[in-house]
Amino acid sequence: MKNKYRRPRVFVTREIGAAALAELRRAARVEVWPNPTPPPYAELRRRLRDADGALTMVTDRIDAALIAASPRLRVVSNLAVGVDNIDLAAATLAGVAIGHTPGVLTEATADLAFALMLAAARRIAEGDRQVRAGKWLAWGPRVLLGSEIFGATLGIIGWGAIGRAMARRAAGFRMRVLYVSRSRTNHGGAVAGARRVTMNRILAESDFLSLHVPLSAATRHLIGAAEIRRMKRGAILINTARGAVIDQGALTAALKSGHLGGAGLDVTDPEPIRRDDPLLRLDNVVITPHIGSASHATREKMGALAVGNILAVFSGRKPPLCANPAVRMRPQVAHPD
Ligand code: DGY
Repeated sequence: MKNKYRRPRVFVTREIGAAALAELRRAARVEVWPNPTPPPYAELRRRLRDADGALTMVTDRIDAALIAASPRLRVVSNLAVGVDNIDLAAATLAGVAIGHTPGVLTEATADLAFALMLAAARRIAEGDRQVRAGKWLAWGPRVLLGSEIFGATLGIIGWGAIGRAMARRAAGFRMRVLYVSRSRTNHGGAVAGARRVTMNRILAESDFLSLHVPLSAATRHLIGAAEIRRMKRGAILINTARGAVIDQGALTAALKSGHLGGAGLDVTDPEPIRRDDPLLRLDNVVITPHIGSASHATREKMGALAVGNILAVFSGRKPPLCANPAVRMRPQVAHPD
């Protein structure tokens, strides 16, 4: 008897690593969005109308309307640890499993957070711009003076895997590490010397403050004008989490006034940052284009995990890395063709 369940269809919203894609193609009919920018929402909706699975990026909005318009969809596998681009409640209600890729990007993201901290503290991007613009006149005793990281106080907001990896790096620079954690009982694991403190204290005492929380209703604008006012004059803010965790207008004002000494941002609100955003005119901010997990090795691993999450669903199991574990997956629907 002919199998009424033809090979499932999967839409992949951007070109990913060849090995992961080949693995997916062995089990499914795969369409890959060929452009370097995300498919527009209407196009995504059109492609998912007939898909059993989607391999998505943080740039793809998977909302309740899109889920309702995708009757066959059983799995959305995000190539990311964060799933704030997906309406988890709507997916769970509809029986769509959501996969993600925690764990493998921890060290790469902490590397970038640390790099941004060094870059902002020692004005590396600003120095590079001056050299390229022919403004390197001579060595000077007052030229491009920055802040020292060695022995300074680092505040970490969010004591998940990436926050802890940041703390481990800080130990090598003999930094005093303070952290804030949401969890009352489980501190997420100890890092020698790191001390749990209140939000008030971390704001008041940190020379560098690095954000490592997921974006949710509770963390949107977690760092706003009031929090920035409580930070030390000259402190440096680092964000590799999500842009909207900071009130960007308040940050810009504090960088302009000199209340904050600098910022290192891998994420902005919105992304990409608008070309006329006033942040881009400030020298004391270093901005990278959301590349926290962008190492060859990490992206390979993320691709493998994202594909593994989809293949598990096609074999009747939940994704091994499931962001909505309470989901009761909807049954497979036969393709007419
Ligand atoms: C994530 O994994 O959530 C990052 O922001 C994308 O690498």
